[in-house]
Amino acid sequence: MNKYFSARIIARVIPLCVVLLPFGKASAQSQTEDAKMNVFVSGLLKKMTLDEKIGQLNLVTIGAPTTGSVVNKGVEEKIKKGAIGGVFGIWGAAQTKEVQEAAVKNSRLHIPLIFGLDVIHGHRTIFPIPLGMSATWDMDLIKQSAHIAAKEATAEGLSWVFSPMVDIARDPRWGRISEGSGEDPWYGGQVAKAMVQGYQGTSMKNADAVMACVKHFALYGGAEAGREYNTVDMSRIKMYQDYLPPYKAAVDAGAGSFMSSFNTVDGVPATGNQWLLTDLLRKQWGFKGFVVSDYTAVNEMEAHGLGDLQMVSALALKAGLDMDMVGEGFLTTLKKSLQEKKITQLEIDQACRRVLEAKYKLGLFDNPYKSMDVARESTDVLSVANRSAAREITKHSFVLLKNDNQTLPLKKTGMSIALVGPLANNQRDMLGTWVVAGDWEKSISVMQGIKNVVGDGVTINYAKGSNITEDAEFIKRLNFGPGMVSIDPKPADELLKEAVDAANKSDVIVAVVGESQSMSGESSSRSDIDIPEPQKNMLKALSKLGKPMVIVLFNGRPLTLTWENEHATAILDVWAPGTEAGNAIADVLFGDYNPAGKITATFPRSVGQIPIYYNHKNTGRPYSSGPTKFKSNYLDISNEPLYPFGYGLSYTTFGYSDVKLNKTTLKGNETLTATVTVTNTGKLAGEEVVQLYISDPVASISRSVKELKNFKKIKLQPGEAKVVSFAITPEQLKFYNTQLKYDWEPGKFVVQIGTNSSDTHSASVWWTK
Ligand code: NOJ
Repeated sequence: MNKYFSARIIARVIPLCVVLLPFGKASAQSQTEDAKMNVFVSGLLKKMTLDEKIGQLNLVTIGAPTTGSVVNKGVEEKIKKGAIGGVFGIWGAAQTKEVQEAAVKNSRLHIPLIFGLDVIHGHRTIFPIPLGMSATWDMDLIKQSAHIAAKEATAEGLSWVFSPMVDIARDPRWGRISEGSGEDPWYGGQVAKAMVQGYQGTSMKNADAVMACVKHFALYGGAEAGREYNTVDMSRIKMYQDYLPPYKAAVDAGAGSFMSSFNTVDGVPATGNQWLLTDLLRKQWGFKGFVVSDYTAVNEMEAHGLGDLQMVSALALKAGLDMDMVGEGFLTTLKKSLQEKKITQLEIDQACRRVLEAKYKLGLFDNPYKSMDVARESTDVLSVANRSAAREITKHSFVLLKNDNQTLPLKKTGMSIALVGPLANNQRDMLGTWVVAGDWEKSISVMQGIKNVVGDGVTINYAKGSNITEDAEFIKRLNFGPGMVSIDPKPADELLKEAVDAANKSDVIVAVVGESQSMSGESSSRSDIDIPEPQKNMLKALSKLGKPMVIVLFNGRPLTLTWENEHATAILDVWAPGTEAGNAIADVLFGDYNPAGKITATFPRSVGQIPIYYNHKNTGRPYSSGPTKFKSNYLDISNEPLYPFGYGLSYTTFGYSDVKLNKTTLKGNETLTATVTVTNTGKLAGEEVVQLYISDPVASISRSVKELKNFKKIKLQPGEAKVVSFAITPEQLKFYNTQLKYDWEPGKFVVQIGTNSSDTHSASVWWTK
């Protein structure tokens, strides 16, 4: 057996543009390209047997299971028979080439395979988790990170990445909130576009471009109670207004493929949902690529209660699913369904055509080995340039949540630091979720980063201080791979004493705490989103010493930080920062970079407030202040989040002027200009994300209290002031009404500009049609 078909080689798998012209405006050149592709693919289809066509719809993983319990068997034989269209789970130029040769040299029609992988926030050079990347509010950096990932992935034989994940999430119990861009639909769309452009480049045929796979279509982030794989049920208005925009933005950006989600949409599993996969995605939005299922999602329709494997496979194909990931329901049942007239030849041909077209667009028919060049691996993977770009990008993702007494930045000389916490001298947890090809041994720990940045300038008194968690059942669930979270052989009170001793002899405490790698991501829902107890106990003991205490927080989701917010002097949220973690953290702790990130998902005060998000409805009994009875509120807690959407501090401070409007009454398609002056009122240069929100207080449906419409990231020297203007057109006033018509209604609009969703200056305008 060829060694690349053995499960052995995949042991490391588990830890688990074309900027296409807008739809309808295809250039003459792309029409010619399309025509050429049609001729080629139609010619190929004519030569294919039914079995070979069905084979193209089969996506398999080689080796150990990644995110389900099933693995494919007999892959080599199936490739030779033309019973496989694509493979995921391997990478490396030599490895993929060997598998590609099996298809190109040994199958009857020599059709190349497509090689995919979960490249989510970097391939080898790992960037911050997507939730962290979204906190940069910098589309150029996001695009650059995707481009570097594509460059590394293509150097290792891949042509397809299962990213971006654009699911809106309003529930931080859901572990996959870490993989998305937070709660805002418009902002999520901006990130989706940047990611697709970064991956696909100017042409998917380019040597350093991959095809994006937008997931999980659709609404996967709306899982009830934040429990993984749970039911989703919501009104059509909510879908269109709050959950669908990022997927649509990805279609508009030219994304080559989509992945269907595990959940139901309107009662029908997404993977077999004709309304979703055909009526919405293709007919309404004009998507031209192919749709792959999620891992065994076709088979899972049996558990959803939609029938046996033959029935659900037929249902999925008819609904518009083109490729079946891992479960082989298509491979084993579609022929029978065709004979029994449960599906049509046209439906098979159509799905096969879409898969072949993707391969054509990637240039695989011109050169099936296009990204299987061993020489590129040594120049393009984990290069000095990629790592230094990662360090730069990572700094921009950090969010300063608190900074009393200007405790941060720390001085680079003449001070002693108690560096404590289970994540302080730790490489394993730097990368975060979904790092299939990432190697934690290449990551920089916080301790190492500090040494790199300050050398001998400061004295470091290190102590681990606590275990990540001591809950044996929790650890069992976290450790789906070997040796991830373990309990230190030293007794807990000894660990704690060492931290207290370290703190006693230091000027400042830097406590590096939070979630370990596997606490967020797929299948990592939590009902309690506090910092785990042993770490919190350590913080409590340290806070009694009366020394400045800086928390460097690792988290794949918003955590409940009410105690920490009261007792820590400063909190720097670094998410899961990736390969360059320690260097980037030290750059920020010691002031080489002034943090400017802003959160894209609301931080609740307690789990009981969830779901909590800034763009909520007003209700008929809104609570603002005063007596609480018979108003929409809680008896035991405020309605307000701990940190609102868009929040994040800087080492400097910014002052905002009132909002100025160029007019206060407008008609039709006029443009409104809203302006503020932002001044750096502190002593350091810094960046600020100036955010524009609009409210529509009277409409035919109840609207959200406000919606983000635009932002600008500016840099200001101390004392410097800049005028920031936003052009507002009726396009930004549109919403979906009860008929799902996307339009705006005349009346009053409140324009709000500020530093976060809760802290804005506003001005009103009347806009008639
Ligand atoms: C399941 C996950 O939901 C999806 O995001 C991922 O791409 C596939 N498994 C493949 O690993």
